[in-house]
Amino acid sequence: MNMISPVPDAETLCRQATAFLDTGRPGAARPLLAAARTLDDTIPTLVLAEVRLALLDGALIQAIEQLDRALITNPSHAGLRKCRADVRYGIGDWEGAARDAAEAVVAQPSDADAKARLGTALLELGYIKEAIACMQEALAAAPNLVGCREALARALEAAGDIEAADRVLTDGLARGPANVTLFNAAIMLNLRRRDFVQAVAQAEQAVLAGIADATTFALRGHASCSLGQHDQAVQAYQEALKLAPEDQHIRHLAAAHGMTSEGRRAPADYVRHAFDAYAGRFDAHLASLGYAIPSLIADVVARHPKIAGGNALGPVLDLGCGTGLVAMALGDLPLGPFTGIDLSPNMLAEAERKRLYATLREADIIEDLSTQSSQWPLIVAADVVCYFGDLKGLMHGISRCLAPEGWFVFSIETLLPDRDGVLPGNGDWALLRQGRYAHTHDYVYDCISEADLRIAQNDRCVIRREAGADVPGLLLTITPVAA
Ligand SMILES: C[S@@+](CC[C@H](N)C(=O)[O-])C[C@H]1O[C@@H](n2cnc3c(N)ncnc32)[C@H](O)[C@@H]1O
Repeated sequence: MNMISPVPDAETLCRQATAFLDTGRPGAARPLLAAARTLDDTIPTLVLAEVRLALLDGALIQAIEQLDRALITNPSHAGLRKCRADVRYGIGDWEGAARDAAEAVVAQPSDADAKARLGTALLELGYIKEAIACMQEALAAAPNLVGCREALARALEAAGDIEAADRVLTDGLARGPANVTLFNAAIMLNLRRRDFVQAVAQAEQAVLAGIADATTFALRGHASCSLGQHDQAVQAYQEALKLAPEDQHIRHLAAAHGMTSEGRRAPADYVRHAFDAYAGRFDAHLASLGYAIPSLIADVVARHPKIAGGNALGPVLDLGCGTGLVAMALGDLPLGPFTGIDLSPNMLAEAERKRLYATLREADIIEDLSTQSSQWPLIVAADVVCYFGDLKGLMHGISRCLAPEGWFVFSIETLLPDRDGVLPGNGDWALLRQGRYAHTHDYVYDCISEADLRIAQNDRCVIRREAGADVPGLLLTITPVAA
């Protein structure tokens, strides 16, 4: 007897396609989805699978449009809402993500995934208490939501409850299975609270569990370096480099430990990554290190002949403005408007909150200076030049952008000889283990004069305290030669 095999319905085809997508076989999923579409092009499973394919193809707009259309006919479908929340979250539309996740929670109040998404989006929007409540509910129902656990720890840390953040991560690690995201979050938390011994111990556990990735080894390197264990730090960076040879952050730290040749400046990716992670606690941490460069700059600027004569000085360009500490320090002087530029979006977001800058721009200092047409009466750079080894490009950029009698006020870290009296690095500058560059005074003076600038004022200063010792530097005021 001839058996006619039943033609699968659209839903079955979509489920098979989804299974192929789950196992990383998009090529096998495509024809099934095309067949399903000819049978019924309205079912949510089809839309969800097609959106996944579109995202794999980088067709973001197409994915969003498809979700928008599907949600018009199916506005309460929790799966579609969660999917659009993810896409919106991915493009930084936190508000849209929170709205969709909230609709998904309304549609399915017991859905832990939806609550986790809502909590994560609320955290990005700065609603920390609400985010914590949401994510705690989600984790109570589904303790293995790793991303949610990691975000809850961040939220608790942002709320100042570091012990609770630590408990959330430790609890996740104890539940297993071993997860590198949780290990890295726990190590990072311990680095931030300066428990370097615990950070090393956790990195070793991750290695023993066979899940350590490049980030784990780089964090291990940082912890060992902070404990003064240079050899262990070098080993850890070697492992990190093996796993991620092209990672700019790791390459820069490896160079800082003498393992690869030094770059002429800190790579943009390194700066962005390091300061994005630091932004939330930057102001409090710098205050604890006795960081006073912004107020020292304010003292210098207060003596500017125009200001001393009771006149306004005009616009200020703050290079590497970070969280805006310089604009705060200069706030009482007749200056402005302020323009701040920085590579780190999170540092810029903190500066934005202070509402002291008319313009904030995410840009690289050297590139920005080379394309500007403005001539500034005052440019400042507090604790920023230490992210450049070679200073020639920077000084030429400054020379281009300073008004004829303009001032550039900036700090540098002094390059000191080692215990044997030898200058590290190339004799002009060296990349130190913390990832910053220090310079000899003679080199800085040469770069200044080569760029047709001259020194108007030169003061020795302490940049900050580090490991119980002062970090020595200079606070320089320079101006065009013709002035
Ligand atoms: C130590 S923080 C100092 C922030 C601020 N000037 C202050 O005194 O508080 C250094 C800042 O310079 C920024 N930065 C470093 N290199 C940069 C570059 N090439 N272009 C733009 N910003 C840079 C970092 O992102 C960071 O915000």
